[in-house]
Amino acid sequence: MNFVLLFESIILIILYMTSSRPFDKPIPKSPESPYPIVTNFCDIVSGFGRGSAELGIPTANIPIDQVPNAARDLEQGVYFGFARIESIDKEERIEPRENHRNVEYNYGKYLEQSNGDFDILPVVFSIGLNPFYHNKHRTLEIHIIHEFKRDFYGAKLKFNILGYIRPELDYTTAEALIADINKDIVIAKRVLDTDDYKKFMQVLL
Ligand SMILES: Cc1cc2nc3c(=O)[nH]c(=O)nc-3n(C[C@H](O)[C@H](O)[C@H](O)COP(=O)(O)O)c2cc1C
Repeated sequence: MNFVLLFESIILIILYMTSSRPFDKPIPKSPESPYPIVTNFCDIVSGFGRGSAELGIPTANIPIDQVPNAARDLEQGVYFGFARIESIDKEERIEPRENHRNVEYNYGKYLEQSNGDFDILPVVFSIGLNPFYHNKHRTLEIHIIHEFKRDFYGAKLKFNILGYIRPELDYTTAEALIADINKDIVIAKRVLDTDDYKKFMQVLL
């Protein structure tokens, strides 16, 4: 690829990542009712495993019956907030999954303080039926914006939901879904880095 073309492509990608989409909801300067919604520590369970394998965007699945009604009742969509993981002391086990990709429940044993794994971290949520995958039951999935070295199924997660970004959408390609999730991540990071949102990290201590 020649340099002019490469440069133009980079500019287009930056423009796409920073421009707002028609379906984005304006995000208020600080959280407005019903936010913040704060949970207790919930179990991190395995989903279908497509987040990591097909999208390259791993998500922690939370049993919907463990979250407060206020979170359960939210409209389908993409949300943002903060989360904190706690490991638990339990024997590791392997759980077979329908798609034959086994899940290692290690309860967070391999997480590292020095890697910031136990910090209060920014997150994006998908709440709903994942129209792209035609799920039958409502799920609450969390992508934690952090580089983990290992999975942590079985660990506990406490989180707050601080705002809404957009509705869940259907897509014709996985690439389009990935591009939108990456844009959600950019939006969440930008908002969560402001003082009015950062102060909601404290409730997770
Ligand atoms: C921030 C974020 C936004 C998402 N937006 C959508 C969406 O608009 N439509 C959709 O079908 N799935 C959406 N998803 C869900 C992905 O499809 C989901 O993570 C994927 O199905 C993996 O789920 P699994 O690990 O249970 O297999 C989103 C996920 C995240 C983390």
